[in-house]
Amino acid sequence: MFKEISVYRIEENVVDLIGKQWMLITAGNKDAYNTMTAAWGGFGFLWNVPVTYIFIRPQRFTFEFTENNDDFTLSFFEKKYKNILSYCGTHSGRDIDKAKEMGLIVKETEAGNIYFEQAKLVVECNKLYCDG
Ligand SMILES: Cc1cc2nc3c(=O)[nH]c(=O)nc-3n(C[C@H](O)[C@H](O)[C@H](O)COP(=O)(O)O)c2cc1C
Repeated sequence: MFKEISVYRIEENVVDLIGKQWMLITAGNKDAYNTMTAAWGGFGFLWNVPVTYIFIRPQRFTFEFTENNDDFTLSFFEKKYKNILSYCGTHSGRDIDKAKEMGLIVKETEAGNIYFEQAKLVVECNKLYCDG
C-alpha cells in the first residue's frame, strides 16, 4: 500500500535518485500506456510550483504517450530491481509488453495514471510545459 506524501517530504537525494538509480516514466491509462527508463531530468521549481523536468527523445514509443496525455508518473525502485530498469531502457513497448516480461505489477492511481507496485516511490505529475 502506498502512502501519499507531499513532494516536499521526499527525503532521498534526488540527483542520485534520477541520475544514478534511474526511473520509469509511464504515461497512458490501463487500456493503453507505455513505460521507459530515464536518467535525464530533475526536480525543481518553475512558476512557483514544484516540478520535475524530463527529456524524452521523439523516437521513443513513450513520447507518443507523454504527448497525448496530460499526466505521467515517475516510478523509482530499490537497487534489486535495476535489471528491470535496464530492460525497460533497452526494449521498446512497440515490440513487447515490458511490464509483463519483467513481472511488473501494474497499478492505477485514483486519477487513472499507471505506476508499478514494486516501486519504492512514485511521483504523479501533471504536464505544465513541453517543448520540442
Ligand atoms: C539508464 C538509461 C537511461 C535512459 N534515459 C533516457 C532518457 O532520459 N530519455 C530518453 O529519451 N531515453 C532514455 N533512455 C533510453 C530509453 O529508455 C530506451 O530507448 C527505451 O527502449 C525506450 O522505450 P520505448 O520505445 O518503449 O519508449 C535511457 C536508457 C537507459 C538504459
